[in-house]
Amino acid sequence: MRNIRLLTAIALTASIAGLSSFSAYAQQYAAVDTTNQPLSNEVCATCHGGEGQGNPVVGGPSLAGLEPWYLRKQLENFRAGIRGSQKDYIPGNEMQASVARLSDAEIDDLVNTIAGWKVIENDHTIEGDLSNGESLYANCAACHGADGEGNEALGAPGLVGRNDWYMFRQIKLFKSGYRGVHPDDTAGKLMRPSTQALKSDQDVNDVLAYINSLDR
Ligand code: HEC
Ligand code: HEC
Repeated sequence: MRNIRLLTAIALTASIAGLSSFSAYAQQYAAVDTTNQPLSNEVCATCHGGEGQGNPVVGGPSLAGLEPWYLRKQLENFRAGIRGSQKDYIPGNEMQASVARLSDAEIDDLVNTIAGWKVIENDHTIEGDLSNGESLYANCAACHGADGEGNEALGAPGLVGRNDWYMFRQIKLFKSGYRGVHPDDTAGKLMRPSTQALKSDQDVNDVLAYINSLDR
């Protein structure tokens, strides 16, 4: 019995460790070809969950609760290859391929449909030092708001209630130049410099733990 528990714990640890590795994603995604899939909410559900709650296994964040203006912008950016086109970042490629053929009318439909989805409370998966997180967040507040509520005029989305594991990855992508570097990515370029102030993964965890604490 104890051995079974131990094995389960090892398997769980291994799969969590695998989650943080981009190459593990690459292997998983090699088998998925989305080019001929019909465009429907079901296409999105595969990777973003049946109720838009997100799917950490494939790296698709929750969509329910995203501001319509931000959702539209990201769909347009993925469609145009402004986001998700680096060939060695497979989750981004898969998302890009999934929306590459959307028409403007289909984007309108998706934005309207997703706006009606019930917001699901996301689990907090990240822990960190709240006081370090709070002082780091002072930098972010200028654009994302003191309470993480976002700022449409600056194109900065709300951060409260988002999946923390997804935000962790996005911060790393901005930091390493996988997001926010395309010449036409004005909003991404605004965001990118702030990530340099987060010196370590611990800093990223701390600021995300603080953002989680605003989720009340
Ligand atoms: C094959 C899997 C897959 C499919 C199908 C898919 N997505 Fe995604 N989507 C992802 C992944 C993975 C990400 C995160 C990309 C990253 O890490 O940069 C993502 C990111 C997004 C984002 C960005 C969210 C944010 O906070 O910036 C939006 C919006 C989105 N998807 C909407 C959709 C919609 C709408 C559909 C259906 C038309 C769809 N996706 C279909 C995998 C998918
Ligand atoms: C100068 C303004 C600015 C500052 C400061 C800033 N951001 Fe951003 N941030 C943005 C903008 C604009 C976007 C949207 C980028 C896009 O459209 O792709 C963004 C996007 C993000 C995203 C991705 C959201 C998603 O759904 O994919 C995260 C996470 C994020 N910011 C966290 C932070 C954190 C944490 C800080 C502080 C360390 C910070 N930001 C500081 C402007 C800013």
